[in-house]
Parts: sequence; C-alpha cells; structure tokens
Amino acid sequence: MTDAELRNMVSKTLTCRIDKKENCSEKMDQFLKRCFYHSGQYDSPENFAALDKKLKEHEDGRTSNRLFYLSIPPNIFIDAVKCASLSASSGNGGWTRVIVEKPFGRDSESSAALTRSFKQYLTEDQIFRIDHYLGKELVENLSVLRFSNLIFEPLWSRQYIRNVQLIFSEDFGTEGRGGYFDNYGIIRDIMQNHLLQILALFAMETPVSLDAEDIRNEKVKVLRSMRPIKLEDVVLGQYKNHTRGDVVYPAYVDDKTVPKDSLTPTFAAAALFIDNARWDGVPFLMKAGKALHNKRAEIRVQFRHVPGNLYKRNFGADLDQATNELVIRVQPDEAIYLKINNKVPGLGMKLDRSNLNLHYAARYSKEIPDAYERLLLDAIEGERRLFIRSDELDAAWSLFTPVLNEIEEKKITPEYYPYGSRGPVCAHYLAARYNVRWGDLGLDVEQ
Ligand code: BG6
Repeated sequence: MTDAELRNMVSKTLTCRIDKKENCSEKMDQFLKRCFYHSGQYDSPENFAALDKKLKEHEDGRTSNRLFYLSIPPNIFIDAVKCASLSASSGNGGWTRVIVEKPFGRDSESSAALTRSFKQYLTEDQIFRIDHYLGKELVENLSVLRFSNLIFEPLWSRQYIRNVQLIFSEDFGTEGRGGYFDNYGIIRDIMQNHLLQILALFAMETPVSLDAEDIRNEKVKVLRSMRPIKLEDVVLGQYKNHTRGDVVYPAYVDDKTVPKDSLTPTFAAAALFIDNARWDGVPFLMKAGKALHNKRAEIRVQFRHVPGNLYKRNFGADLDQATNELVIRVQPDEAIYLKINNKVPGLGMKLDRSNLNLHYAARYSKEIPDAYERLLLDAIEGERRLFIRSDELDAAWSLFTPVLNEIEEKKITPEYYPYGSRGPVCAHYLAARYNVRWGDLGLDVEQ
C-alpha cells in the first residue's frame, strides 16, 4: 500500500467528534497527513529498525510517544513485541505502549506463558490488554448507574435480586473466521472475557475511587470469589444448516476452515455463582451464541417476588411474569428499561407490565462512539481503567480452565441447533434447574 492508499482507506471510516463541526474537515486532513504506511515482517529486527528510523524522521527530535496496536494472530505476538520493544521503542523520553487483542492464551497455562514472555520485553504498565466490551457505552455506564443513583445500589444483592442474566447473540456464523474460532470456541471467544468482564463490573463492591487500580482490585475480588464451574452447569451447542425458503444457511462445519468432525461449541450457556456475602446463592446465567435468531447483547436483572403481594390474583397463575426486571441493552439500539407492574387505566383493576424506558436514540442526539474509539484514546492518555490487568486475566482463566479441559477431555458432543434459531433447548433446562426463565425469550413490550 502507498501512503495515499492508506489515507484513502482510513478516511472512509474516520469520524470527527469535536463540537465545532466546521473545523472537522481541516482536523481530518491534518490527521490523515500524519498517517504513513510501512511494511515489514513481524519477526524482523531490521524491519523494525527501519520503522524506527522512519518514525524518527517524522518526530524530528521532539519528545514522542509510541503506541503499537497488535491486531495480529497470537502466534506472532511475542515476535512483534520483541522487535517493537528492542528495535522501535520511543528513545527520547516519551513512552512506548502496546495494545494486545485477545486471545490472551487459551487456558491458564498458555496465558501465563504469554504474560511471562511479554514481561521479558515490557513492564505491566506498558501492556494494554483490550476487551472491547469494556469500551461499550452501556458497559461503562454500569458503574454510573450503580454508584451515582440512590435507588439501585440498595437493591443490588441477594436480598432483592433473584438472578442475573448476561446474554450475547449474533445472527451470523463464523463467516470465514472458523480457522481462528475452531481452536477457541464460544466460551473462550465471548464468555471468559466479554461476559465475565461485564459480570465483574456488575457484581463488584464500591471501589475506593475511580482510579484504575481501585476498580480493577474490586473486579479481581469478584473473580476470585467465584465458585468453580461444574460441567453439569454448562450447555454446549453447535449450529447446523437450515433451509429457509430458497436460502440454505450453512452449518458451522460447512466452513472450509473447520474440520468436518469438529465438536467446538458455537453456543454455550452456563450457571455461575459468586460465593461472597452479597451474592451468595444468586445464579448468574450466561448465554452466548453465533448463528442465532438475533444480534443482541444485554444484561437482565430479575428481582425477587413482592412478598405477600396484594395483587397476586391479578396476575393469574403466572406470578413469575410479574417480577420487576431491569434490562440494560448494550447493543444494538442501546437502552435501559425497568419492567414494572402498572394499573391499566380504567374502572376495573387490571394490571399490566410496562417499561420505564431510557431509549438512547430518543434521549441523546449524539452518535455513540465505537468501543475502539474510546479504548484507543484511553491507551493514548494512559488511562488503564478499561484494560485487563494480568491478575484479572489469571483469575478469569482459573475460573474457566478446569471446565474447558473437562469438555475437551470428555469430547462432549454439543447439541445441534438450526442456524437462525433460538439455540439449544438444553439452555432452558439449565435455567429451569435454578428456577430461572431466560428473560430474552419472553415478550418484551417496548414503549
Ligand atoms: C469478538 C469475538 O471479540 O467480539 C467475535 O471474537 C465477536 O467472535 C465479536 O463477533 C463481537 O463484537 P461486537 O462488538 O460486534 O458485539
């Protein structure tokens, strides 16, 4: 690629978030003029030295910082880190940082090995492990919701919350990413990181301050209080082909990069527990899947029944439907809504479920920045709050590694579900074992 080709590519997705729109095109031009393309091998110190030379020319003796963003296959992480650190670090008093994309290993051992190798070349505060779900607007808002409103935090415990559901679904399959995916599966791809990170933020105690270390200390405590996951509390699924009208939707194993006999799960549901005073006995149910009927990520909090509910008979047999539920829809169409019971206006006494609804598109005119915009900016500013510390990563792997090993050793066959469906039936049985009904399968009336 030439510099011009790179600039052209960047310009297609470049956004400008300064308030005075009239200066945007000027700003964007200034930015694009500072983009250069340099190609080389990931493991070549000479190529990185050439990059260093080129950067120095542009830096022109000024104090400059360098941020390397490794969106590359994990098997070349170390080579690239080594070369970047030894041959292309900032040399004149500026900082050098490295952003790493997951997968950070595939179990406790490989993750620890990766961290050890990184630390030969970098200090912990140079490493920015990205989990882009932490950069999503509604995930960041979780702490604001909890800690800057009086009404939620007093209810945020086993005393009032019956269960918490963390749901991720995509309406497309691996689409050519099977080569990467088959070695990892949905538990490593989504649950061990994105959903677990949300869980930690959801469940942590109030941090001492908004400082990165204080927040991450609290998250680690939650992760380390979690009960080991039992195999019987995990449901695995894999999508099979499905024909709708004239369209044939492929099975996971139809992906050319996936072995025909692959048992890799593309769907998983699990029941997790936090053995601490706040959450003792409250099931945290996770569900993540590809090739399902919709694309969605949400947190659902189901509250307990109202004791001695005066209006019990108005709900008929299905009192369960009458519990309050707080839904935080991370994407798409960001929203926070609380399901409450309400009297239907009129002379009789008919109750109805309604939503107190904060619909972002209606409330805020501003476009919501992409998670990566926020995270890259944070890395530049040295803000570590939304990045994963190494002890957090260790705790997350300690939780999932034993059950992942068991699944692989026992060669557990996943339940096959049709492409575009609601996923394996066994996920309902898992929820039912803990007296839970998945909230996303009910009728969500939205006003
Ligand atoms: C990635 C996973 O981390 O997150 C992908 O590797 C998944 O499999 C993606 O599709 C989902 O991210 P988003 O932001 O599109 O929900």
